[in-house]
Amino acid sequence: MMTQAVKAPMGDVRGKTAFITGGANGIGLGIARALVQAGANVVIADIREESLAQARAEIGSDAQVETVQLDVTDRAAFARAADAAEARFGKVHMLVGNAGIGVMGPVLDARFDDWDWGMGVNLGGVINGIVTILPRIKAHGEGGQIVTTSSQSALLPISYSAIYTAAKAAILGISEAIRGELAGENIGVSAFMPGPVQSHIAHSGELRPAEYRSDSGYRQREEDLEKRPVSPLWMSADEVGERVLAGIRDNDLYILTHPEFGPGMRTRFDAILASMPDEAINQDRAKEIGFLLSNPAFDDQLARRQGKELAA
Ligand code: NAI
Repeated sequence: MMTQAVKAPMGDVRGKTAFITGGANGIGLGIARALVQAGANVVIADIREESLAQARAEIGSDAQVETVQLDVTDRAAFARAADAAEARFGKVHMLVGNAGIGVMGPVLDARFDDWDWGMGVNLGGVINGIVTILPRIKAHGEGGQIVTTSSQSALLPISYSAIYTAAKAAILGISEAIRGELAGENIGVSAFMPGPVQSHIAHSGELRPAEYRSDSGYRQREEDLEKRPVSPLWMSADEVGERVLAGIRDNDLYILTHPEFGPGMRTRFDAILASMPDEAINQDRAKEIGFLLSNPAFDDQLARRQGKELAA
């Protein structure tokens, strides 16, 4: 295995501060609750003001909770929200880039407004969080954790999810790419890829801004989706919140929730490997492009999971 600085696990989150985007409902709220119960401070940033007030009342721990209204696509507002978080708690240690919307439908119906809104929030929001908050985590020198909410759809893309999958796969790729870079700064990176979770995501359409409504092929679909009940068999937000907390504590590269996806993921990767040219490796070329051929973050994650299995 290649050696590389591996960030120490975050371990105890008590007294540390997390900035959670999209934290006023669903998964983000589940993560916020788990972190507060573990003794962390949380700053819940969300576009929905009424949900923020409700979240604050629900969590009920004023000493550890701050809320801030934020549209994650607004970069200037993001900087102001980060300032507010630091003014309240001093330092931000954890960024949970979680705000997201369910933009789903046939690619043949997708118009530019659907692509632009979907990518702007689901990918742009995560990028804006990293650009805004990562330097602040580095600056205080105490280390921390970046958690990005991707999705199982990044690992097992299905039909009718092109826009959503584009953003979620990008988020996963970003997380894998920056993990090694940040290890030396004692900043961990976790990509969170939940399967179906009970949340408010079916109501994403009501958040679609006016400027993304005229050239959309998905409006009717969004209105129909709001009427569909959430299955009680989907995982609860509190359960996934606890899984994310465990992943933060252990500095896991991947935080997964649903073993049901395992066989499908294996088939996908087998299909990719089966498409590799069945030819001998050109050793000279391999040497020349060696820097492209592996990422120690994968060896590290494999070792930590195998270590856990041995300990169990
Ligand atoms: P949710 O709708 O319950 O929560 C998302 C929150 O993000 C809401 O409070 C919403 O107001 C906020 N938000 C939306 N646009 C925003 C913006 N522009 N700026 C700031 N806040 C904004 O949905 P859920 O399911 O909890 O989603 C959280 C994340 O989990 C999303 O990134 C979603 O894609 C992802 N996810 C959800 C799954 C599920 O089955 N619920 C499965 C896999 C991933």
